[in-house]
Amino acid sequence: MAAVLALALAGCGGGSEDASTDRATGAAAGTGMAVGSAVQQDAGIAADMAALSPLAAKGKRVYLQCLSCHTIEEGGAARIGPNLHGIMGSPVGKQPGFGYSQALAGADGVWTAALLDHWLERPREVFPGNRMAFAGLANPQDRKAVIAYIEEAGN
Ligand code: HEC
Repeated sequence: MAAVLALALAGCGGGSEDASTDRATGAAAGTGMAVGSAVQQDAGIAADMAALSPLAAKGKRVYLQCLSCHTIEEGGAARIGPNLHGIMGSPVGKQPGFGYSQALAGADGVWTAALLDHWLERPREVFPGNRMAFAGLANPQDRKAVIAYIEEAGN
């Protein structure tokens, strides 16, 4: 204990002061840069983010994993998967302009938060034989957030 104290005291005195100041400044500059670039990245989507709840805003980031295959804006084009605008409360596998697998096209049911949660956890399990090549979102918080985003941004 005494030795630790002595070392700590030594660290505070004399020549080592400059070094620790440098380190502190360096760390602060690093943080500043990280914050700066995050703000910059968000600036472009700040306008539509403003309307989203914090949970949905988090979900928008999770949605980046869906974006290569799904648009969400009204009238958005089908990509590898169907447009997801208004999907909540809509019948499964019936979005216009998309060629579904038989597994989805022939499915009964309506997209609810609970069904979506199950689908996004294990896409392969819910409508077996479907063609959504996505491993799933293991983290329940990520699923909750992305569902909030789909509800708020897409309805
Ligand atoms: C690699 C491409 C791909 C990714 C990534 C992907 N999907 Fe899909 N998704 C599809 C395809 C393809 C279908 C249609 C499957 C079929 O017809 O069997 C689909 C179907 C769906 C459906 C059913 C739509 C309907 O009309 O019934 C929902 C909801 C959905 N995806 C949500 C998501 C969400 C949310 C994510 C991100 C967490 C995601 N998907 C990621 C390709 C993808």
